[in-house]
Amino acid sequence: MPDFLIENHADLRLRNTLALPARAAHLARIDSLDTVQQLAASRRYRDLPRFILGGGSNLVLTGDFDGLMLLSAIPGRELAGEDADACYIRAGAGESWHDFVMWTLAQGWPGLENLALIPGTVGAAPIQNIGAYGLEVAERFHSLTAFDFNSGELVEFSAADCRFGYRDSAFKQEGWYRNGRFLITSVTFRLPKQWQARTRYADVARELEAQKISTPKASDVAAAVIAIRQRKLPDPAQLPNAGSFFQNPVVDVALAAHLIAQHPTLPQYPQADGRIKLAAGWLIEQSGWKGRQIGAAGMYEKQALVLVNHGGATGADVRALARAVQSDVSNRFGVILVPEPIYLPE
Ligand code: EPU
Repeated sequence: MPDFLIENHADLRLRNTLALPARAAHLARIDSLDTVQQLAASRRYRDLPRFILGGGSNLVLTGDFDGLMLLSAIPGRELAGEDADACYIRAGAGESWHDFVMWTLAQGWPGLENLALIPGTVGAAPIQNIGAYGLEVAERFHSLTAFDFNSGELVEFSAADCRFGYRDSAFKQEGWYRNGRFLITSVTFRLPKQWQARTRYADVARELEAQKISTPKASDVAAAVIAIRQRKLPDPAQLPNAGSFFQNPVVDVALAAHLIAQHPTLPQYPQADGRIKLAAGWLIEQSGWKGRQIGAAGMYEKQALVLVNHGGATGADVRALARAVQSDVSNRFGVILVPEPIYLPE
């Protein structure tokens, strides 16, 4: 007897943070390596289209998914090792990211505090190299293990194997995220013992200053980040959304210089490779979309980069709004905005 349970015609509305209506033909909860191995061997399910679902916080469901959706739910968190320089902390892919961050802090292992309150699961964090307030997960990543549906084996990925970039990794570059080739089972983080608070991000510095904290502990940084996020970003449970809807565009120096000459207040962030990252939220606001809606889908009134569902929006509404915003920003600034979430089925 297989020990996996399949839910057929599964409702996904509560499983995506934009609360879009859609169903999966089959849904299986994966809470152990054994479960995924059994599914991969099952004649009935092994050849169906697959998608690995975490917290559903980076997903635009445009319709029903005619395949097998695997709900990442492998638990666990532990100190996996230690050397003179760092602690290595391993977590199951299905753990809630924020709960994991707060647990590491409670154990006395600082290093992830700038990434507090990001929705989603531990397993999803490396796929799009989550980042916020001056830190990307790539900087604290050590390795991950994943089940490869092609070979039926468990494989390990180092940081180099993951080819991290801004909101990017090999899982996106190679299409593995979309085609469900790998199911990430656990992620190991390297938290350096020489810890220093990272407070360069202007919002974080301001928040700590307002609280009159000059030498912040990791828990102070986490509290500051949580306060900023709660002010700026809507709670998906109250107002469904998928965080930043577009990536911040990275453009060459010539285009950045041209735009700055015309718009002196345009925020810009020079990158290590010499290019310039622009603030998509600013471009969208200047294009008149902050707080504006098409049907029930709108750009959030307090942060124009966040697309929200005011109630009853569909994937088609979200796509129509995203296209209208992209078109206006492109016409006005000559900059192409690329969505952060993926569209499924497409
Ligand atoms: N801005 C506007 N109008 C707006 C929104 C922003 O002018 O409506 C300007 C702000 O004034 C600021 C700049 O744009 O000068 C940047 O805004 P913010 O600090 O809010 O950050 P962001 O670029 O909009 C990025 C990440 C967030 C992350 C924050 C903090 C991306 C796509 N987004 O947002 O990540 O939390 O920085 O580090 O890189 C996510 O990826 O889902 C996400 C929430």
